Amino acid sequence: MKQKEISILYKEYSNPEELHEEWKQLIHEARMISKKAWSPYSGFCVGAAVKLKNGMIFTGNNQENAAYPSGLCAERTALFYANANYPDVPVDAIAISAHNVKGIVKEPVKPCGSCRQVLLEAEMRFNHPIKIILDGQNSIFVFEGIDSLLPMSFRPEALKE
Ligand code: THU
Repeated sequence: MKQKEISILYKEYSNPEELHEEWKQLIHEARMISKKAWSPYSGFCVGAAVKLKNGMIFTGNNQENAAYPSGLCAERTALFYANANYPDVPVDAIAISAHNVKGIVKEPVKPCGSCRQVLLEAEMRFNHPIKIILDGQNSIFVFEGIDSLLPMSFRPEALKE
C-alpha cells in the first residue's frame, strides 16, 4: 500500500484592489448579474461572468424551478451559453459571486460538483486552462485551472481505456 497526497494551489486576496483591473471588472459583472437570479426557493443568488479568449464576456445566473432538479446553476448557465454561441473560442476565465438577504457571502462561493465537471470539459475541449475567480466579502480566491478544484477528475480519456 502506498499513501498518496494531492495538493491544490490557489491565491487568496484579502484586498480586491490587488487584483488586475480585468478580473475586478469580471467580478463586477458576476455581482451585477447575480441580482437578476431567479432563486425564489433558496433565496441564494449566484452570478457568473465568463470571459472568452477573444475578450467577449457572457453572464448567467441561477435559474430555479418549483420542480427543484430542473433548475440550473449560474456557472453552467453562463458557460453553456458562451460555448453554444462561440464553440471555437476558448474560455479564459470565470468569476462567480453570490449573495443572500444578508448581502454578498462572506467566504468565497465554491462551485458545485456538476459545475466543476462542466468547467473541466470547457478546459479540455480547447486544451486551455480557465482562471476561476471566487468572490467573497472577506476574501477572493483565484485558481489557475480546474485541476485544483477538481483533482482526480473523470476525464474523456476514461471513455477509451
Ligand atoms: N448555485 C449556483 O448557481 N452555483 C453554485 O456554484 C452553487 C449553487 C445555486 C443553485 C441553487 O439555485 C442555489 O444556488 C442554492 O443551491
